[in-house]
Amino acid sequence: MSDQPQILLLNGPNLNLLGSREPSLYGTLTLAEIEERAARHAARYGVLLRAVQSNHEGALIEAIHEARSWARGLIINAGAYTHTSIALRDAISGVALPAVEVHLSNIHAREPFRHHSYLAAVCIGQICGFGWRSYLLGIDALLGYLGLLPER
Ligand code: DQA
Repeated sequence: MSDQPQILLLNGPNLNLLGSREPSLYGTLTLAEIEERAARHAARYGVLLRAVQSNHEGALIEAIHEARSWARGLIINAGAYTHTSIALRDAISGVALPAVEVHLSNIHAREPFRHHSYLAAVCIGQICGFGWRSYLLGIDALLGYLGLLPER
């Protein structure tokens, strides 16, 4: 395995529809375009970003388990599972990898059922409301935590 640090970008249900899904809430970039921008951003710091999307809770959990063997940490937009999944929360705490929760929209300014995140307490922090830039901010947060950002 190469010595290059690697991180996992994990996207959950319905995020494969980005670009056409409720663009007033989520913007017009496709997931592939966001993943590409995210990978380019991580590459600026010499970090390889691998992206996985699934609509299935179990597949997301397995991707987190697998990341134990190669990733230094993860960025996760779990979509609606954010608000429902104790299993995803347990996967994040179970692998003990640093994680940053991201959302395109400001979940705290939306319906009350979106205000609670099961994941937030097992993540380093949460970034939401900045559209696709939430992902870049999430990468900065994770790499800063890992000591992979240059000192400014
Ligand atoms: C979302 C917010 C969630 O409440 C919603 O279910 C999503 C997208 C976001 O990125 O803003 O699917 O995670």
